[in-house]
Formats: sequence, C-alpha cells, structure tokens
Amino acid sequence: MEQVTRGNFGSKLGAILAAAGSAIGLGNVWRFPYETGANGGGAFLVLYLCCVLIIGVPLMVAEFAVGRRSRTNGYRAFPTLGAKGAWKYVGFLCVLTGWLILCYYGVVQGWTIEYVVQAGMNGLAGKTPADYAADFTNFVSDPVKPLLYLFLSMGLTLGVILMGVQKGIERASKVLMPMLFVFIVVLVGCSVTLPGASDGIKFLLLPDFSKVTPATFLAAMGQAFFSLSIGMGCLCTYASYFPKEANLFGNALNIAGIDTMIAILSGLIIFPAAYAVGIEPGAGPSLVFITLPNVFYQAFGQWPWLAYAFSLMFYLLLAMAALTSAISLLEPPTLWIHEEFHIRRRYAAPIATAICVLVGIACSLSMGVWDGYKIGGMNLFDFFDFTTAKILLPLGGLLTALFVGWKMDKKALLSEISNERVLPQTLIRIYYALIRVVLPLAIIAIFLNELGLFGF
Ligand code: PHE
Repeated sequence: MEQVTRGNFGSKLGAILAAAGSAIGLGNVWRFPYETGANGGGAFLVLYLCCVLIIGVPLMVAEFAVGRRSRTNGYRAFPTLGAKGAWKYVGFLCVLTGWLILCYYGVVQGWTIEYVVQAGMNGLAGKTPADYAADFTNFVSDPVKPLLYLFLSMGLTLGVILMGVQKGIERASKVLMPMLFVFIVVLVGCSVTLPGASDGIKFLLLPDFSKVTPATFLAAMGQAFFSLSIGMGCLCTYASYFPKEANLFGNALNIAGIDTMIAILSGLIIFPAAYAVGIEPGAGPSLVFITLPNVFYQAFGQWPWLAYAFSLMFYLLLAMAALTSAISLLEPPTLWIHEEFHIRRRYAAPIATAICVLVGIACSLSMGVWDGYKIGGMNLFDFFDFTTAKILLPLGGLLTALFVGWKMDKKALLSEISNERVLPQTLIRIYYALIRVVLPLAIIAIFLNELGLFGF
C-alpha cells in the first residue's frame, strides 16, 4: 500500500538520482542563459551563485531533512512533523506551485521535442542565424504545432508516471546525464572558438554591477529556486526514500554543484555564440533555441554529418533531462489528488495532467495568437514563469525555512542533518543560524527590495 501511495521510487540510490534528475533540466540549459542575458550577464551570475550558496544549499538540506524525518511526501510532511494551524497548508502551496510550473514547463519541453524532430529530419542544416530566429518565432506563434508538442510532452510524462517506470528512467539518466555533460563541454569548446566569441565570455564572466537593479536580485533568487527544484517540496518527497546513512549535506552540495556547473557551462555555450552571430543576449525565452543551432552548424560546418548527429543527440539528451524534471513536477499533484480525494493513481495522474495541458494551451497560445492578452504587462507564459519562480517558490522556501528553523523539533532536525553526529558541530551551528535567521531575512529582503523599499 505504502509503495502505491508514495509512487515508485522504491530504490534508495534511485531516490538520490531522482533528486538530481529533478534539478537538472531546462532550468539549467534554457532558463539560466535567458535570465542571465535579460539581467545583465556577469553581475547576475555573481548574485545567482550567492543565492545558490546562502539560500539554495541550506534549503535543500532542510527539505531533505523534512522528507527523511517524516518519511512521507512533500505536502504531508509538515503535519507529520507537528505542523498545526496554517502551517498545514504550506504543503498545499508547494503542490500548487509545482502544478503551475508544469503548465509552462510542458510547453518548453514540447519545444525541445520539436527540435529533436527538426534535428532528426536534418531541418536545421544550411540555414542562416536569421532563419533560425524566424523559424523559432514561426513555430512558437503557430496556433497548432506547439500544442501538439505540448500534448506529446505531457503524454510522455504521464506515461512514465502511469507505467511506474520512473525508477528505470532515473537509472538511465545515470548514464544519460553524464553524456549530456560531455556534450555540453564539447559545445563550450566549439562556441568559445567562434570568431567574435570573446565579448560573450566577457558578458558572462565580467560582472558589471551598474546593471544590478532590484529585479536582478529577485531574478537571481528565483533562478536558484527553479534550477535546484526547491521551494515546492518535491525534493522532500524524494528524500523520504534516502537511506539513513545518506549524508544530506554531501548530497545537497553535489546536486547543487553539478546543477550550477551545467548552468554556467550552458552560459558559456550561449553567450559566446550569441555574440558571434549577432543575437541579442536579452532575447528572452527564445535565446537558447535560436542560438544553439548556430553552434552546431558553424562549429561542425565542414562535417555536416557530425553536426547532424551531434545536434540530434544533444536535443534528445536535453529532452530526457526535461522529462526527469517534469516527472518530479507531476508527481506531487498526482499524489495530492490520489490521497486527498481517494482517487486511484491511474486516474489521479491523468486528471493532474489534463489540468496542466488545459492551462498549458493558454500559455502556449500566449506566445502567438493570444500575445495581446497581458497581465501586469506580461503575456500568460511570462506571467506564470514570474509568479511561480519569483514569488511562489521563494515563498514556499521561506515558509519551509521558518518551519524547520522555528517549529520543527530541534533534536529531530539536528539528528537528521548531522547523521547522528558524524558532522562537525561548528558546521551544524552555522547551518542552524542560516536556516533560522539569515535565509528567511535574505528572502524577505529581496522581496522588499523588489517593492522598492531599499532601492538597491
Ligand atoms: N529544476 C528543474 C529544472 O531545472 C525544474 C523544476 C523546478 C523541477 C521546480 C521541480 C521543481 O529544469
């Protein structure tokens, strides 16, 4: 019964791989470069790294501790650990956030599948940078095609959850993710050697703090939450399967380290190439899709078959990375429907998916025919991205930190994070101060700063 209720990440190694699979996804390769580009480059990177270290890693450890202690899923964990009153609803906020993210994540996942198909049919060969940009705009603003890919991407994600093959997928990603890493490193080599690439490297690595505005802080924090999959309890669910002896700090540092490395390397592919071919770094969500094909076909120009094989493999691996993240986003709402409404998983998962698809259709159309409908000056796609990554995830993180720091039984927390005192006491003291005080204050300060209270 327990297995059925809590999904299919039965194996312990599988649970840690699943957490890594959730973190590594479109957030690194798609969202990080476009947020960096839109927020001024190097200075954003510095703020992002600070957010990962000061907010991201401690919060990931906190989610791991809550999950392993409660041995239950993200939204049940809080009441299980003694949450009363309004605290009980933190879990629901987390479920809702994941659900909303998946509504537009599925759309972008669909775009990656379109690029797998394009690469496979040799549709990326022999084009100019302007063609790639025009093709992308035509594709996303088409009223039908991106929707078909949305159905396909959500169908695949649902299929994995329904067939209970998450474990297999996570195990496969043990091989596939290092492959993606190797591909990324090769592409960095290709990109930085393009003529005119040095300006792009400078853009990413030389911080210009005069470009920092309150929005830059918020964007850096939002990206850290999004990329590390924190603030919505999904890591909590995976951690409920972590073995007793798993080192929570070690795992958090490893996952955050790999995740950040992939993001920076993606930046080192995108910006040099964007500068080399004259694409605006602030191009927004389209940035990666219009820049990458240039890298394949300019770098491997003399060997078209190599460009073909390389691009096809790359997009396939990227689609896989997106899939493992999408699974982690669909699992919490599925569980919630299953447990709260006593609906079987095989019905709960399609219901959760259908809601994502319906809202996803609106998000997708907002890139084209519905572009005129704005909320706060943003189209629906951007609005969902803004609300989830920059408001709801940090809010979920803030509440998790406050709960763990001030409400959760101190002994229980310390025994989880210290693995029964294997870790040095000083580290634990620093951690406790971070999670109780520094981290909540940092999140609140970034929110208030965005509202113009400090004016940084
Ligand atoms: N971290 C995932 C990515 O980088 C996205 C995600 C966000 C997954 C939040 C789960 C929770 O693509």
